[in-house]
Amino acid sequence: MPEATEELCSLDRIDRIIDRYGGQRSALIQVLLDIQKEDKWLAEESLRHVASRLNVPLPQVYQVATFYKAFSLARRGRHLITVCMGTACHVRGSPRLFDRVSQKLGVGPGKTTHDGRFSLLTVNCMGCCALGPVLAIDEDYHSNPSAADLGRILSQYE
Ligand code: FES
Repeated sequence: MPEATEELCSLDRIDRIIDRYGGQRSALIQVLLDIQKEDKWLAEESLRHVASRLNVPLPQVYQVATFYKAFSLARRGRHLITVCMGTACHVRGSPRLFDRVSQKLGVGPGKTTHDGRFSLLTVNCMGCCALGPVLAIDEDYHSNPSAADLGRILSQYE
């Protein structure tokens, strides 16, 4: 799959991340977090390389990568949209907000838009309940955007 290969975190780049932590096995989670942050997902090739470089058995690497919600083994879009479905946001209308976003993007939870721009996820609290219902696009938080607001906000992301 040439397209997938082009977008993979290059092994040189992964080496640089690993070197940042002195190649320590104990840095496994941090290494995976850094790769996840750069690539938005953990490709099998990346996990195999990490296992080999840190001398950690591959099943153990997969165990960590599948245990934490912060990691994705599926390709994600260039931007991550997270809608909070925690209790405070829920009572303030997060299901309706989620529906607006889902309709606008044309994808359901855990899915990525066809153009690869956005992936849509839900979480149970972002720690900013007073803004609820709230969504985040990457690191930017938005309090209950209307459908019109959403269109304007989404257009700012390539
Ligand atoms: S419940 Fe949504 S931010 Fe806390």
